[in-house]
Amino acid sequence: MYIPSVGGKKFAFKKIPGANIARGARGSRMDYDQTKIPEMYARGRDHGPVFLEQWMNVVAGHVDPAGVHDILDLGCGTGRFSNALASRFSSNLVGIDPSTKMLQQALNSPSYSRVFYANGVAEALPLASNSVDVVFISMVFHHFTDPPTVAEECKRVLRSNGRVFLRTASREKTSMYPYVPFFPASWRLLEQRVPSLTFQRGVFEDAGFRTLACEVVTQEIAPDYSAYADKLALKADSILASLDDKDFQAGLHALRFAAATMPPRAVTEPIDVLVFGK
Ligand SMILES: C[S@@+](CC[C@H](N)C(=O)[O-])C[C@H]1O[C@@H](n2cnc3c(N)ncnc32)[C@H](O)[C@@H]1O
Repeated sequence: MYIPSVGGKKFAFKKIPGANIARGARGSRMDYDQTKIPEMYARGRDHGPVFLEQWMNVVAGHVDPAGVHDILDLGCGTGRFSNALASRFSSNLVGIDPSTKMLQQALNSPSYSRVFYANGVAEALPLASNSVDVVFISMVFHHFTDPPTVAEECKRVLRSNGRVFLRTASREKTSMYPYVPFFPASWRLLEQRVPSLTFQRGVFEDAGFRTLACEVVTQEIAPDYSAYADKLALKADSILASLDDKDFQAGLHALRFAAATMPPRAVTEPIDVLVFGK
């Protein structure tokens, strides 16, 4: 695997000139470095070892572990899945993300020895052709400024038997996201920002990928609604972070009221998974 960011230091990352050019082309899409999300992301979005184990099992169900040597965690953010992926598949992993602040959080966490991070965007991957066996993309598709170019880039860097594993939100599922009833203003933002699953699948198929799996995974994100409210209060979600403060506080209040009045139960949400091969 060609890792341009290492520069002799195991967990270093550096700015890549091409990444900055591509980043400039990102237009008005959310730039995590201009938000408070990076400081809160790990506390708001990490859901513990059982959650990670669940996702590693889902990935392992779609790739041949013996054939996985190099993984790209595309839009890795704080590295929420990076260590678990590298460790589960005993492989090298490079996490690429345009947000310096998200990567800094990743670097501040203990890292598995074969995990590296680089600054870059999916539309111009700073990786050699045919250099990875898995491209793992989690909760990033809705941020891509040029999805067809991203799919072409995935095709370029992926080895012939490789897999793209897309873990994503979709417009078809937005009504099932558990925060939506409490934050009605989030509905319009989700409609505007989250593409349909049909579109996401079509982008990869148009680039020449075959769809090998299309499924929904239900994940637990809090043991009860009170814990869920505590997590959401951190504003570690780009949709909730975009709400105006009045709408956000009203939603949080409604959620805490519901938590106090309903019998405790785990909070779950559906996540779409698409798996592509060349
Ligand atoms: C919701 S976070 C997901 C982080 C991580 N994949 C996870 O599941 O925890 C979205 C990430 O996508 C990154 N991102 C935004 N635009 C991107 C692009 N064009 N290419 C790659 N990553 C991008 C953001 O900087 C942010 O770290």
